[in-house]
Amino acid sequence: MAPDLKKPSSSVSILGLGYVGLCTAATFASRGIRTIGIDIDEARIEQIRRGRAPVHEPQLGEMLKRVVKKKLLDATSDVSRATDTNTSFLTVGTPSQPDGSIDLTYVKQATRELGKALQKKQSYHLVVVKSTVIPGTTNGTVNPVLEQSSGKVVGPSLGLCANPEFLKEGTAINDALHPDKIVIGSNDKKSADQLTRLYREFYGSRLPPVITSSPETAELVKYASNAFLATKVSFINTIANIAQHIPGVDVNRVADAIGHDPRIGHLFLKAGPGYGGSCFHKDVQALVSYSQQQGYDPQLLKAIEKTNEDQAIQVVELVEKLAGPLDQKRIAILGLAFKKDTDDIREAPSIRVIDRLRNKGARLVGYDPMAMPNFESVFGNTIELAKSSHDVLKGGDCAIVMTEWDEFRRLKAKDYIAQMRKPVLVDARRIYNPAEFRELKFAGIGFGSEPLGPGSQAEPS
Ligand code: UGA
Repeated sequence: MAPDLKKPSSSVSILGLGYVGLCTAATFASRGIRTIGIDIDEARIEQIRRGRAPVHEPQLGEMLKRVVKKKLLDATSDVSRATDTNTSFLTVGTPSQPDGSIDLTYVKQATRELGKALQKKQSYHLVVVKSTVIPGTTNGTVNPVLEQSSGKVVGPSLGLCANPEFLKEGTAINDALHPDKIVIGSNDKKSADQLTRLYREFYGSRLPPVITSSPETAELVKYASNAFLATKVSFINTIANIAQHIPGVDVNRVADAIGHDPRIGHLFLKAGPGYGGSCFHKDVQALVSYSQQQGYDPQLLKAIEKTNEDQAIQVVELVEKLAGPLDQKRIAILGLAFKKDTDDIREAPSIRVIDRLRNKGARLVGYDPMAMPNFESVFGNTIELAKSSHDVLKGGDCAIVMTEWDEFRRLKAKDYIAQMRKPVLVDARRIYNPAEFRELKFAGIGFGSEPLGPGSQAEPS
């Protein structure tokens, strides 16, 4: 049954029940705010209405079950239901075009549908752009489409704000419940005030700092945030690649030491096989493309992407260094997801490494506790898939840890020795203490392992 929206408190509609939309809807509802989720995918809606999460995200399933049962969240494909609420969030996807620039097709479609639904609405309605959009989109694209389709003028009766989202996969619910800030970009006080009131109702006395700005600034904050985080990862990977050439040096110790400087900080300095996921690559590319359209060539951003892309070469070089020529070698890939606690393989570094290993004639077998169905649906049977983390090692000439799953952390040197034809291990995520893997041929990203032996400085990661 639909929630009772006649009660006087806030009510919201969320257009686009992908990752961000669904987590946003569930958390709004969990705070007693009546929420309607809107999507064009009927199967997804059916699943949500039954209180089931269509994506894997810790805490989301239980939260959905609770809020659907309490009738605080309903899902529908009927956009006109948005008019029963006083604020609508656009959370549709903004994929890349083949040239890297942003594709606003879904944003325009959803805005048009919403505008049509709002034609007859008498009272004030606020439209909030939460999708990641390039600066100028809220005012330059959403505004005219909304005005045209609704027949109203943005201002007194129709509000419009940009309000980017910063949640991460794997910790999305916690991030949505405890954000470090809220960014509201608006052209007028009325719309910014309504959105601030909504968040005050959501967070109560725990309202995080609310930063108000123009829509363009808010839009750029999101890109600057993801680009900076991607920079940190490519930076530490660069240091890791240098460290690898210096016997006795461990990039994890370097990262820890520099992280004590509050100007640098500890987070996002974990060296590895490169960043993946649906956002960093897409957003940095979109920012590069946008910037070039404006006549500025952002060299730094391009280098961040190139460094990330090339990190797969570093991983494969370590494998070759330890295992020799790869033709016909059996290589075990531990982890396919772009990070732990998700089944998402989009832009995963495992895919870039697999690609290179296949080109070199290696025979590959992979295992992931969660992402294998997604991997299979995209890549079919291009590589063999194993049933467990022990199974994947069987008869292997080399194993590579590509995702930092806890399940892999529990594997000991003896497990590798027992299962593999040759116990050779490349720890691309640095989940192991090298000192405990002396019996193996072992290499780790950012670990100058040349003279690793008794008395070496190797310390726990
Ligand atoms: C990222 C941002 O962190 C979120 O703030 C943002 O809201 C989101 O994109 C988005 O735009 O929707 P997410 O892609 O879920 O979130 O994942 P992250 O935890 O940021 O990790 C991205 C990649 O960087 C992963 O492959 C991860 O393994 C890698 N990474 C991260 C490192 O290699 N080293 C690190 O120190 C941190």
